[in-house]
Amino acid sequence: MSKTAILEFDGQKYEFPVIVGSENEAGIDIEKLRALTGAITLDPGYKNSGSCKSDITFLDGEEGILRYRGYAIEDLADKADFLEVAYLVIFGELPTKTQLEQFETDIRKYTLVNEEMKNIIDGFPKTAHPMGVLSALTSALTAFNPKVVNVENEKEMYEAVCKTMGKFLVIATWTYRKMMGYPLNYYDNTKGYVENFLHLMFELPTGPYTSNPVVVNALDKLFILHADHEQNCSTSTVRIVGSSHAGLFASISAGVSALWGPLHGGANQAVLEMLEAIQKDGGDAAKYMAKAKDKDDPFRLMGFGHRVYKNFDPRARIIKKAADEVLSTLGVDDPILNIAKQLEAAALVDDYFVSRKLYPNVDFYSGIIYRALGIPTDMFTVMFAIGRLPGWIAQWKEMRINKEPIGRPRQIYTGYPLREFKAMDKR
Ligand code: SDX
Repeated sequence: MSKTAILEFDGQKYEFPVIVGSENEAGIDIEKLRALTGAITLDPGYKNSGSCKSDITFLDGEEGILRYRGYAIEDLADKADFLEVAYLVIFGELPTKTQLEQFETDIRKYTLVNEEMKNIIDGFPKTAHPMGVLSALTSALTAFNPKVVNVENEKEMYEAVCKTMGKFLVIATWTYRKMMGYPLNYYDNTKGYVENFLHLMFELPTGPYTSNPVVVNALDKLFILHADHEQNCSTSTVRIVGSSHAGLFASISAGVSALWGPLHGGANQAVLEMLEAIQKDGGDAAKYMAKAKDKDDPFRLMGFGHRVYKNFDPRARIIKKAADEVLSTLGVDDPILNIAKQLEAAALVDDYFVSRKLYPNVDFYSGIIYRALGIPTDMFTVMFAIGRLPGWIAQWKEMRINKEPIGRPRQIYTGYPLREFKAMDKR
């Protein structure tokens, strides 16, 4: 592979170094482009631009490969649990039994959320979307943990990681409790992390809640599948906010807002709403396929397509299998799942989708499992955020430890040239 790239511009030739990644991806280093040529690049949506070098996640969109710190997602989903994978993503290595137990013990030191935070959630109407509440509560955590993290101080950084893992889960479930008008629960330090999610969500004062091990296992797998995904929209947001040296909670709060969008994490909610609309409309999948292909129709087949995967999203394969298993184990016969399978089968042979390499992504099947687990549609993207939290923390930490510069893209100006000011009576 070439070690340099040559650019010819304005009759001059310029040479730029090529950075080669550990999986042989090539990156043309244009750090000196503007100084040398006076020109910048233009790449709306950054489809061809790398923002950083990272050791955390590798994905190959053509081959449908996803690895966290070199471990295949299929192995991690099958053999590890969520806290183990969170440790791997954040600290770089699979934990020993002792390290994992210590991590869980240290998270438990911070699972009590300041009581005054309840005044903030009380200010929201019950109709507020949980993602908006979660973003606000996450940012508000800064008020109770004002110390901006000194990433150079390993102890302080580790404490911030444990605090975030502990408190974010609690406030995420508070958004559901608020929506339902239920009292807010406390983390139970005698239970496991994913078991606590169910306890925090569903335990009512009127009686004990016993979590179903099938549900715990399914959620462990789902959270693992969402743990990180290199420089996606919300992670890039966390990095760019953190690059101004804003705190970890403020950066994650921004990531929650970015994830909310229906083109990103909000797609899992949009998929269920789409499937329900198709079901209500008589289950006519072909009609909605036609809408998705119609340039004049803004409708998109939610849960299909991906900026990087131009093959099957490996997470979608795993989730589809888990959906079948969870629904049959729980004895749930959901016609929505059959509609999803009809849509997938039709799209996989339809030239519009095949030619554009549009395959089911992580969001296509996840909502079907969440629904079977009794989680309301409005909470689906919060589920995504809980899973993605370790990735946001890991990427933020990497960006700060690598002392990356503040993120500040350039632009090509296409507005007016200099104009004379016009007095009011002349306008
Ligand atoms: C996530 O980046 C990540 O890693 C994200 C994520 C993560 O883990 O963080 O994987 C999670 O966000 C998954 C994606 C969830 N979003 C959806 O399911 C929403 C539906 N998908 C699309 O909106 C779209 O596919 C995107 C946003 C996911 C990707 O869009 P791109 O890469 O910008 O592609 P594009 O919009 O330029 O589309 C290329 C073509 C266009 O047609 P033409 O102009 O070439 O004729 O494909 C068409 C699009 O109209 N197209 C679709 C489509 N997705 C793309 N047509 C119908 N239905 C769709 N879903």
